[in-house]
Amino acid sequence: MAITTVLTGVKPTGQPHIGNYLGAIRPALELSSEPNTETWLFIADYHTLTTTPDPKRLREMTYEVAATWLACGLDPNKTVFYRQSDIPEILELSWILSCFTPKGLMNRAHAYKAKVQENQEAGKEDLDFGVNMGLYSYPVLMAADILVFSAHKVPVGEDQVQHLEIARDIAQKFNRQYGEIMKVPQAVVPKVGKNVPGLDGRKMSKSYDNSILMFEEPARLKKLVGRIKTDSLPPEAPKSTDGSIIFDIYQAFAIPDQIATLKSKFEAGISWGAAKEELFQVMDEALRGPREKYKQLMADKSYIDGLLKQGAERARANAVPFMHKVRQAIGVGS
Ligand code: ADP
Ligand code: TRP
Repeated sequence: MAITTVLTGVKPTGQPHIGNYLGAIRPALELSSEPNTETWLFIADYHTLTTTPDPKRLREMTYEVAATWLACGLDPNKTVFYRQSDIPEILELSWILSCFTPKGLMNRAHAYKAKVQENQEAGKEDLDFGVNMGLYSYPVLMAADILVFSAHKVPVGEDQVQHLEIARDIAQKFNRQYGEIMKVPQAVVPKVGKNVPGLDGRKMSKSYDNSILMFEEPARLKKLVGRIKTDSLPPEAPKSTDGSIIFDIYQAFAIPDQIATLKSKFEAGISWGAAKEELFQVMDEALRGPREKYKQLMADKSYIDGLLKQGAERARANAVPFMHKVRQAIGVGS
């Protein structure tokens, strides 16, 4: 029976929010529980370096992401769980792949384009102001993350689909020259949760300060849910579930019966306060268990240290022979 390799990474940029959970973490864990699946989950700490965070903070954020995966149910026996920076072969491959990456492809990558636009709007003369080469070639490092482990499926939120397209392009370009060495990966975007809205209705993102973090204490969770933007319809007015931030998030946490019930309440007329209370309840219930586990894991980091060390060994056992093949193919090394 053929084995499917599922791989995804999360950048350590602080405690993940529910957009990260619904768009990336939960779908990856669901895919990984399917039969004949091998799963690779990692913490993309070198990707965070593009923002040059404080070293202590970067280390702490790495633990936060690791603890989140474990709190959400990652089974370390069934998953290769590692830190990107523990696998030097990824960086080696990244350089090699960069030699197969047309510069124009990077000019079109969305994070870089967004930065250029920001500079343009601010009237800056240098449109590349604040862009380091790490940010510019970010998609190449991401391609290396994926290709070094020959991943078939990569669960990601919608915003990462372009990066997957780039990884596919690079893999195909390499293969045209050297034969079928790189497996061409496929993005898997979850149906529910691919674009979780934040408190203000824009995409939930750490950069917009509109997030609900995964492990907020109940009182704060309630407060944040209370801040979700709504319109000014009176309580008794029928409400549309389409485009409702409350309903969107509710759907991602509730079971089908609950969703149907809330939909009828929307149609019959429900006050925003009551709808928010229902959302809070369903989120609190789903996140209570993981929240407790997260606290325990963060209180003693030695467990995480041990797991990541083991994971790095398992990952390198694959990455080293793969890179040997690549080196042979391109004509470097012995
Ligand atoms: P942020 O935008 O907060 O910085 P990241 O870029 O670190 O989040 O995203 C980590 C993962 O979570 C990616 O796979 C991304 O697609 C997913 N993700 C981020 N925000 C959302 C969202 N609002 N809805 C769904 N998925 C998301
Ligand atoms: N770029 C992804 C993000 O910003 C994180 C990431 C790095 C990733 N390498 C990856 C995701 C490889 C999937 C596969 O969220």
